[in-house]
Amino acid sequence: MKITKRHYGWIEDQEVIEYQLVNDQGAIFKCLNYGAIVTAISVPDQKGCLENVVLGFETLSDYITYPAYFGAIVGRVAGRIKKGQWLTHQLTLNENTNHIHGGESNFSQVVWQTNLIEKTTDELSIQFTYYSPAGENGYPGNLSTIVTYLWTNENTWTMNVEAQTDEQTLFNPTNHTYFNLSGDTNRTIENHQLQIFSEFYAETDAEKCPTGQLTPVVNTAYDFREPVLMQTAFQSNSKGYDTAFKLTKGTVNLNEVESGRRLEIQTTREAVIVFSTTGMDEDYYINGKKMCSHLGIALETQELPDAVNHENFQSIVLEPNKTYRSQTIYRFFI
Ligand code: BGC
Repeated sequence: MKITKRHYGWIEDQEVIEYQLVNDQGAIFKCLNYGAIVTAISVPDQKGCLENVVLGFETLSDYITYPAYFGAIVGRVAGRIKKGQWLTHQLTLNENTNHIHGGESNFSQVVWQTNLIEKTTDELSIQFTYYSPAGENGYPGNLSTIVTYLWTNENTWTMNVEAQTDEQTLFNPTNHTYFNLSGDTNRTIENHQLQIFSEFYAETDAEKCPTGQLTPVVNTAYDFREPVLMQTAFQSNSKGYDTAFKLTKGTVNLNEVESGRRLEIQTTREAVIVFSTTGMDEDYYINGKKMCSHLGIALETQELPDAVNHENFQSIVLEPNKTYRSQTIYRFFI
């Protein structure tokens, strides 16, 4: 097992580094200290061919210019907060009249401190810390967040998040990696099967903010309790998925038929947001391919969005002198 690093760029006087974690199988996990972004994960298909299964840019300037959160940690709070209001606090309004993904210059757009690189025989680990000062994007409390990525010999990526604040605040981070398990961006996610252990999804209004209504998935295009081919799902829901699913047992499965690659996600979080990139026909290139609809699928584990406005959603209030802890495990296999 080996970690190497390379210079990736500068943000003012802060150096951005790309870390490459290679396990004994030769499978590779790459990440940046900028946004704690996961830039690439290369794992074998059923023929043993190693290919990258996440969407990522080649350069820092692309990450800065096209902030669609590719591979990044999103925070303090992922998703939308209606009108950006919580108690007496007014959060930054960065999407129409709402707050989204922690506001302007959020966790995904800052350089994190790299605290520790640890090596054991079966696991490589890298730890990023970010100190968010009180008042940043309108949030109270000086907040310290530690994100640890572990990469094992079993091709498993574990993400542990810890945080502490000195004043009551909100905290609901996620990782915003877009997967394409084919390893070939000439193929879209339509040949992927998705399974979500979820009985309810969160209904949203015209601005994509949850209404508070949790709707049963039964007899809807949101029923993924058994694996569903995404091509079939898009036939019954042509506008695609930008949907929060409340999880019953913290498991989400994704597989791609042709390559035989499988991903099993296990999380301690309440929900997963499925963002299918439907209609994302953009001018930029990613993984050598012009960004297009259904090029990747983001599976964002978090607590339900807009929780501050809905008593039936799990609280995302973080109290001072309490340590926040969560874990999401992504296991790649065939
Ligand atoms: C949100 C989408 C948003 C995308 C990029 C997703 O997490 O659910 O509505 O367009 O992130 O910001």
